[in-house]
Amino acid sequence: SYYTKAKFSTSAPDILHLDQSSGIEVAFAGRSNAGKSSALNTLTRQKNLARTSKTPGRTQLINVFELEEDLRLVDLPGYGFAKVPLAMKLKWQKALGEYLQKRECLKGLVVLMDIRHPFKDLDQDLIRWAVGADIPVLALLTKADKLKAGKRKAQVLMAREASLAFCGDVTVHAFSSLNRLGLPELERKLDEWFGLEKPIVD
Ligand code: GTP
Ligand code: MG
Repeated sequence: SYYTKAKFSTSAPDILHLDQSSGIEVAFAGRSNAGKSSALNTLTRQKNLARTSKTPGRTQLINVFELEEDLRLVDLPGYGFAKVPLAMKLKWQKALGEYLQKRECLKGLVVLMDIRHPFKDLDQDLIRWAVGADIPVLALLTKADKLKAGKRKAQVLMAREASLAFCGDVTVHAFSSLNRLGLPELERKLDEWFGLEKPIVD
């Protein structure tokens, strides 16, 4: 796949310190431990491109990965981790809001949520922000391998129903980094955002 060629580019302490702003950027966001870094590794078929951990709050820097010049994937620090001091939480939420509203190269946001607990308050805030800033959202319901097929389908349907409330461009799919469920859907959406779709020949 095209995404295997991702290379680590830079880390930044916050969104305002990201230098490059030309080209196209797609960011992965979600609660701590939702599976953002794992999804990036699954997408790129690289075991250790993004650091994963059983301990929530592992990714504290914004990590930027380059596919080629002007096409970037961004791994954002997770939110909603109880042990982070309130002042830091508020600072991060403000920075995240600014990034969504001001980063012109941001063409899409992948919001990752544990399939067993989708659309918590902070997820809803984030998606509302993105929709308000006209940024399309792909909601991935992660760790789908933890549920049996019936329950998994029910959760996806429920999440699609919930996503209608945002009145914006929100797509919902189940995803698993363990068995790659949902990977083709993720790639298709990224291709669309990065402008990599194959031209239709007739
Ligand atoms: P932060 O960087 O702390 O915000 O977390 P993150 O969202 O990057 O999560 P990460 O990818 O580090 O994964 C957190 C934990 O969930 C790790 O123990 C992963 O192995 C596990 N995990 C991630 N994706 C899946 C999945 O699809 N299935 C299962 N069963 N476990 C997963
Ligand atoms: Mg992470």
